[in-house]
Amino acid sequence: MRVDLIPHHGLIDSEDLKGKTAVVIDILRATSTIISALENGAAYVIPVETPTDAEQLAFTDRSIILAGEKEGIKIKGFRLGNSPLEFTPAKVKNKVIAHCTTNGTKTILKCSGADYVLIGSLLNRSACLDYAGRLKKDIVLVCAGRKNGPAEEDSLCAGAFAEYLRQNYLGYSFSKISMDAYYLYKINAINLHDRVYKSPSGQNLIGMGLKVDIDFCLRKDVYSVVALYKNGVIKKIKNNEMY
Ligand code: MLT
Repeated sequence: MRVDLIPHHGLIDSEDLKGKTAVVIDILRATSTIISALENGAAYVIPVETPTDAEQLAFTDRSIILAGEKEGIKIKGFRLGNSPLEFTPAKVKNKVIAHCTTNGTKTILKCSGADYVLIGSLLNRSACLDYAGRLKKDIVLVCAGRKNGPAEEDSLCAGAFAEYLRQNYLGYSFSKISMDAYYLYKINAINLHDRVYKSPSGQNLIGMGLKVDIDFCLRKDVYSVVALYKNGVIKKIKNNEMY
């Protein structure tokens, strides 16, 4: 079995994902937010491409919560933005969330050709990869990236994922690009916060007064949520069920 990496969603070829497990990574902030929402009891998350898609869903079911960002800022008329800290149990427990973000939700939608699509973040790294390991398929770490290019924080997270797989699972070989991410992470692991603060996405969030979101998203292995995208929705896998 092999571990590979796609640096940003502009490079996804859904044919290449057939027969594989895709792990989508957009740690600042879409996938961290989805994992936090499910951890806090959201029923499920519907990733959508455009704000209009989300509004149409809410039109048919008024109880759906609209959430998401454009250029980092909450979309006008939506109840929640894209800060994981907003998705508290009081706001999301048992709720369905329609989620629209600049890169993250688009990346998830583009991965639908994979056999399995898991939502990855540092928050649920070990839970996500332990599940991926049990699926016994090639794993593709799919980074969302930004502005149609790679995003440093996603590459670092992919490297942390490669590290976990190397340490805990025998039997995977690693593509060169996934090993590049692994070394990038190893070199920066001690100064991860500083490196991410200085990245373009980090600077953007800091500029909006959201450094707290970065600190939240850089916590590793704190949630046991395994989140699977299937039939258009992202649900928490209960009791490690296999699908
Ligand atoms: C994205 O999908 O591009 C991000 O999650 C952006 C953000 O949260 O600001």
